[in-house]
Amino acid sequence: MNAPTKAAVIDREIWTGAGEALLADTIALRRAIHEDPELGLDCPRTTEKIKAALAGLPLEFREGPSTTGLIAILRGSTNARTVLLRGDMDALPLEEDTGLAFRSRNDGAMHACGHDTHVAMLVGAAKALCAERERLAGTVVFMFQPGEEGWHGARFMMEDGLLDDPRPDAAFALHITPNLPNGTFASRTGPLLASADQVRITVRGAGGHAAMPHDARDPIPVACEIVTALQSLITRRISVYDPAVLTIAKIESGTTFNVIPESALMLGTIRTLSEATRETVHEGIRRVVEHVAAAHGLVGETEIDRGFPVTVCDGRIVALAEQTVQAVFGAEAWRTMPTPMMGAEDFAYVLQKIPGAMAFLGATPEGGDFRTCCALHSNRMVLSEEVMAKGVALHCAFAQAFLNGDAVV
Ligand code: NI
Repeated sequence: MNAPTKAAVIDREIWTGAGEALLADTIALRRAIHEDPELGLDCPRTTEKIKAALAGLPLEFREGPSTTGLIAILRGSTNARTVLLRGDMDALPLEEDTGLAFRSRNDGAMHACGHDTHVAMLVGAAKALCAERERLAGTVVFMFQPGEEGWHGARFMMEDGLLDDPRPDAAFALHITPNLPNGTFASRTGPLLASADQVRITVRGAGGHAAMPHDARDPIPVACEIVTALQSLITRRISVYDPAVLTIAKIESGTTFNVIPESALMLGTIRTLSEATRETVHEGIRRVVEHVAAAHGLVGETEIDRGFPVTVCDGRIVALAEQTVQAVFGAEAWRTMPTPMMGAEDFAYVLQKIPGAMAFLGATPEGGDFRTCCALHSNRMVLSEEVMAKGVALHCAFAQAFLNGDAVV
């Protein structure tokens, strides 16, 4: 393991004490955001709640123009180095079914990915770090970011120049999850989450009578053959050591039992753990679709919508996060993940430019089992709110460890 050589400076009691002292406020803010979820790049009411919670603190603010994201900057005792802490803000388009007293009041929107807790923990960290700013040998940039759920919010905020001045030297984010033991943190060096692209395949033939297929160009058997050929592409052309997932999740064609339709449409998702494999899969899909269709005298078309890139964690920052978690909460609180997960995350854009890491934080609800309780993105997903005290403390301790410790980056 490539751990930093010198022990980082971490005021353990100060940060854990602050996390506990701020817990009631953190829970209140989380609930206010939870019952008023917003979608996409425009989350103005959430931004207002953040600004209200940070009012009066010694922070500089930057925002706009592409999103309602907010940057808050805290200057410590020197400006030697800068660390970025990020929390995403947006909810998911689904109907909540948790029965919580503070459940969503907005039809068709729910904080089912825990971003409400990410905002609340980051606000708590901002309050705690402002109160102890003299302890920080550097600058902290708090990034409140909307549009994580497929909207590229992190990329837009970077294109808006919001991370240019001051330019962070390291970046860190927490993602809460009910599917890890309470209070444990988990991450890994290298790929943590996958790239996620959408593919749309159209097979164009010629319609006709279902009893006389030789007079038509039936797209349905060709579409089925393409689905099978694409799975051969994944198992025969892609290394098992740098894997890919390709799922055709929707097939649409035809109207009734005795008509051959003119075309078939297929939608799917492509997940990879490296840019090289991502390009190989894209190129392979185009080739297979075109040529399998052509072999039968039909036309196959492929459109690929590029989503988030691979989320890659820097080994030095993961090592510092591990060291920080163990210093604050004990050795048992850290887990090195044996494998990546094939979900995706737009913090990947930040990590392409700034060395950093994301860590998961276990928050299984009371009485639940982390192995079986409802996962992120479920309409019944609930979390332990008490764990947010640890998230606040870890954000603070990580920032101090990076700014005051040995230079790891
Ligand atoms: Ni999320």
